[in-house]
Amino acid sequence: GAAAGTAGGYALAGSTWKSEPYDPETMPSLGDTGGFPGFGGEALPCHGTHQAGIVSVPAAHTRYVSYGLREDTDRAALVRLFRIITGDIEALTAGAAPLADPERELAARPARLTITVGVGQTLVDRVAPAERPEWLAPLPTFSLDQLGGGYDGGDLLFIVQADDPLPISHAARMLHRDVDRFAELAWTQQGFRQSRGTEAPGATMRNLMGQVDGTVNPAPEDHDFDALTWIDRESGPSWLRNGSAFVLRRIRMELDTWDRVDRPGREVTIGRTLSDGAPLTNPGGGEHAEVDFDAKAPNGLPVISSAAHIRRAHSTDPSERIVRRTSNYDDGHEAGLLFGCYQRDPLTQFVPIQQRLDEADLLNEWVTHTGSAVFAMLPGFQPGEILGAALFG
Ligand code: HEM
Repeated sequence: GAAAGTAGGYALAGSTWKSEPYDPETMPSLGDTGGFPGFGGEALPCHGTHQAGIVSVPAAHTRYVSYGLREDTDRAALVRLFRIITGDIEALTAGAAPLADPERELAARPARLTITVGVGQTLVDRVAPAERPEWLAPLPTFSLDQLGGGYDGGDLLFIVQADDPLPISHAARMLHRDVDRFAELAWTQQGFRQSRGTEAPGATMRNLMGQVDGTVNPAPEDHDFDALTWIDRESGPSWLRNGSAFVLRRIRMELDTWDRVDRPGREVTIGRTLSDGAPLTNPGGGEHAEVDFDAKAPNGLPVISSAAHIRRAHSTDPSERIVRRTSNYDDGHEAGLLFGCYQRDPLTQFVPIQQRLDEADLLNEWVTHTGSAVFAMLPGFQPGEILGAALFG
């Protein structure tokens, strides 16, 4: 069934809208559809030291929903709001219906649904201005940015991920119903990877330029992953301990002109082959072969161009790295990358990398950053706790 473990959410009792704590021992799982072995009934725990959805195997679908707080949403209102959305998250991720869900069957197959919550500059300034980290603000502008298209900033972010778009749509709608009184929808963006089952679980995704995208990325088992990702006593305010900083960039791709570039040209732009993502210094070596940035071609030029994306994006300072978690978007008239990344401090991790790219990345001819947002992703929470309690307490 979908609801393994303790889910402190809500389920419907009888035919009334009365709620009671969801108890998987005594209540049938809504996700139990007669033993069908599909993955729709799989649920990921929402409780933990860190929020769910940051280090889990990326889901096929991701929706980002950003809200701006209403004028009269004060600390007391935020406490009420976070109490409500905590219950929503506990129920929905367990495959159970949140309080007064009129469409409770849509909650039944969560397909690894996660809901990850972040807060923006204005929200923190409203409740704890002295405890806002410096990085929780719009990023410095980069020369090639074309922001202002309606995909910037926000005070409250939901990252809703699942292997099926149906639970995402339902979860976003339930959250919206509860958030509406407190905040106004700013923007929503929906991204995708290949459907589950299309590739081996955890396979590096391909973006819409056809490239293997995400090869060189810190992994949770790396010795320095925690230091790159999670905020601790020294690196942030106490309300963010075990949280993380998230940067989201909407990056449009000019696929029509990109497709006119020949294959070698497209491979040189990145510094890797299109077939399997191997470095151009080690073709056939697979995507994880080591890159030799010093290798020279017989004509004396570097094999990895001085402006190749992987050379410009590569950090020689190991503490400057970011944890990328991206997805594709395709609205029919426009396609690109929803570039998301986690780190302790965007000013010392994302920003220097993006500065190098903005300065001289061969990719710049075909990609444009049109949206930008920074959020503080809250620490995780345990059963009985309210998400974000340390910020509002
Ligand atoms: C590497 C594509 C934007 C940071 C790569 C790779 C590809 C790629 C194909 C090589 C495989 C891999 O290691 O993942 C793209 C595309 C972008 C884009 C198509 C825009 C549409 C960005 C941005 C950043 C970034 C905005 C950060 C500011 C990185 C990093 C690496 C990388 C850190 C690994 C570099 C290394 O080898 O050390 N990207 N990328 N990328 N990219 Fe991007």
